[in-house]
Amino acid sequence: MDNNIILIGFMGCGKSSLGVRLSYRMRRTLADTDKIIERRKRMAVSEIFDKLGEEAFRQMETQCLERLLVRKEPQVIAVGGGLPVREQNQELLKKLGTVIYLRATAETVCERLAYDNTRPLLQGENPEEKVRKLMKEREGIYESVADYMVDTDGRNVDEIADEVLGYFSNLPKLRK
Ligand code: S3P
Repeated sequence: MDNNIILIGFMGCGKSSLGVRLSYRMRRTLADTDKIIERRKRMAVSEIFDKLGEEAFRQMETQCLERLLVRKEPQVIAVGGGLPVREQNQELLKKLGTVIYLRATAETVCERLAYDNTRPLLQGENPEEKVRKLMKEREGIYESVADYMVDTDGRNVDEIADEVLGYFSNLPKLRK
């Protein structure tokens, strides 16, 4: 199925909460790759990183996209922040539908994730530095995969949902 709406962006940019809101407003089901993997493995993402390693988790993300591709009805799909980094996943994302990049500054992300202990890549010393470094590595990738980019700083979830829905309603109708 190629007309899904896929939300990408850095950890803490609001993909999951926007996903919930869009799925409600568009009456579509929501697929959240982290949650799908956690359900399937019966382990939290941090436990998967810890016990099986990051590479195994990345493999699971790719499998998850491949499974979503064969679904019939269009969905809203929120993906983990590191998923678009794999080249194979970039191709799969483009095949799956329209990719929306939720952009947030490092300051916003750090503020939102200040007390978070569920993101294995940001644990330990100096999480701010980790955010800035990873963000720098990933920004260009997010931009190149995205069909549309939304700024999320200082905006609530309904304002962001309005902008995304506005983007879709202004697109020329290619299919009846
Ligand atoms: C990751 C982001 C997380 C989760 C995992 C790795 C990343 O998802 O997939 O901790 O590499 O950026 P969120 O973006 O939903 O936090």
